[in-house]
Amino acid sequence: MPVDTKDVQGLLRFGYGSMKEAGYLVLRIRDVAAARAWCAVAPVATAEYQERPPEVALQVAFTWTGLGALGLEPGLLAEFPAEFQSGMAGEEGRSRRLGDIGASAPDKWEWGQPGREPHALVMLFARSGRLADWRQRVENDPFLTAFETIAFLFSGDLDGHEPFGFKDGISQPEIDWRRERATGCDELTYTNVQALGEFVLGYPNEYGKYTDRPLLDPAARGARGLLPAEDNPGKRDLGRNGTYLVLRQLEQDVRGFWQFLDKVSESNEAERLRLAEAMVGRTTEGHPLMPPNTNAIRGIDDASGGPSNRFTYDGDPKGIRCPLGSHIRRSNPRNADLPGGPGSLLSRGLRMLGLCDDSYRGDLIASTRFHRILRRGREYGPRLPVADAVREDPGDTQKRGLQFVCLNANISRQFEFVQNAWLMSTKFDGLSEESDPLMGNRTAAGDGRDSANFSLPMEGKPPRVIAGLPQFVTMRGGAYFFLPSLRALRYFGEGPV
Ligand code: HEM
Repeated sequence: MPVDTKDVQGLLRFGYGSMKEAGYLVLRIRDVAAARAWCAVAPVATAEYQERPPEVALQVAFTWTGLGALGLEPGLLAEFPAEFQSGMAGEEGRSRRLGDIGASAPDKWEWGQPGREPHALVMLFARSGRLADWRQRVENDPFLTAFETIAFLFSGDLDGHEPFGFKDGISQPEIDWRRERATGCDELTYTNVQALGEFVLGYPNEYGKYTDRPLLDPAARGARGLLPAEDNPGKRDLGRNGTYLVLRQLEQDVRGFWQFLDKVSESNEAERLRLAEAMVGRTTEGHPLMPPNTNAIRGIDDASGGPSNRFTYDGDPKGIRCPLGSHIRRSNPRNADLPGGPGSLLSRGLRMLGLCDDSYRGDLIASTRFHRILRRGREYGPRLPVADAVREDPGDTQKRGLQFVCLNANISRQFEFVQNAWLMSTKFDGLSEESDPLMGNRTAAGDGRDSANFSLPMEGKPPRVIAGLPQFVTMRGGAYFFLPSLRALRYFGEGPV
């Protein structure tokens, strides 16, 4: 393995699926010396493969404000990317682009509101029944002196299903840990394998370039413990083996979702389910609405969804089988720079020049390999079966949703692009007046046009449009974090100031 996996936090490589319990401590630093002392010794689980998987694991990440509070010097802090510096809720324009407006606006969040950004995130994972004990062991000195907990986000276990009832976590990019993939060249067919640098800083990304990250002078205090930068060996790389973590607490209105579909389908159970599956793009058990693609797709193996991930949308350009606006088609349109595959030299040339009928739609969804994210989210709240969800129950005050977590080396090109240009956009793939059927905030688009629709394309006739979709998902809190390498974490413990 050309990567020192002992230096990488485990979440980049493992989903910790056998650890059914998880809880995230959202923290502010109250004692800098104690926080740094904890960084020097924190029991962080690494990406090194172990014969016997551990019973518990801990991961740690910091916001830009948190790194400042730890004492990183301003010159170094300025080298982090702009969106990380600004934070998820730091600018009105960003909130608008992410769809965090109306009921999801940052000033209504339960944590992470503007001006109250957390400093750190400690993620705890444990086998069933072990979380409370693990938390107690972690929350000891110097941790207790170091941090104030502003929120504790726990997750439940709905057996791999998110609260609406759909199997989740199926499609994931396959990271090229062995660095076998050539980077920076044209990739004309859809592949699931992604350059290491798309998810881990300090390595070439899909463009064959190194994503910007803070580099230090080797003479700087504590810098000796860091690895040299591959692209600039005279400097030490604070980013190498680290990445960025996006956390969004997304509350799901499970009753609202199923009651709306129940109304639209006039309580026809089969039709209700069909509409829900069309909105997601998969059946509740995770089968894609597309047939398997006979062309092999590189990088689709058991670890990344197996047979239920072996498909593209090539055979369904109009979205008759899997609606163009369904959640999975928006969040990963799959077909790469040339939808339909490379084709002949002549047809490729015509398409590149925009001389084909469907070329403009193709353009809108091209280049998916530059916009992949590694999802590590977990559901929260008790299970609510559809049969119960379609009925009112004023006594049910339980909250349900997703602690959405994704990892990527470039927040603006990966997470923000997917969220803004694909999920929230009312112009995705030639559609109009609709955004993601699960995630949309339903507020009128910039031009004042409705966005509360979902269209089901039909063969040979106009699409069936379902209108008046309520908002099913509301933001309750979120932040951008830097998930450091073990070396960078120890540097925070001893190096700066
Ligand atoms: C409450 C909110 C959400 C729900 C209920 C939800 C649900 C789902 C479900 C059921 C799947 C299909 C199973 C799978 O392939 O893993 C899926 C896939 C996916 N979702 Fe979401 N999701 C939510 C939010 C988001 C957000 C915020 C993003 C990104 C910004 C996102 C990105 C994706 C991606 C990239 C896929 C995989 C698509 C593919 O490769 O085929 N999701 N989601």
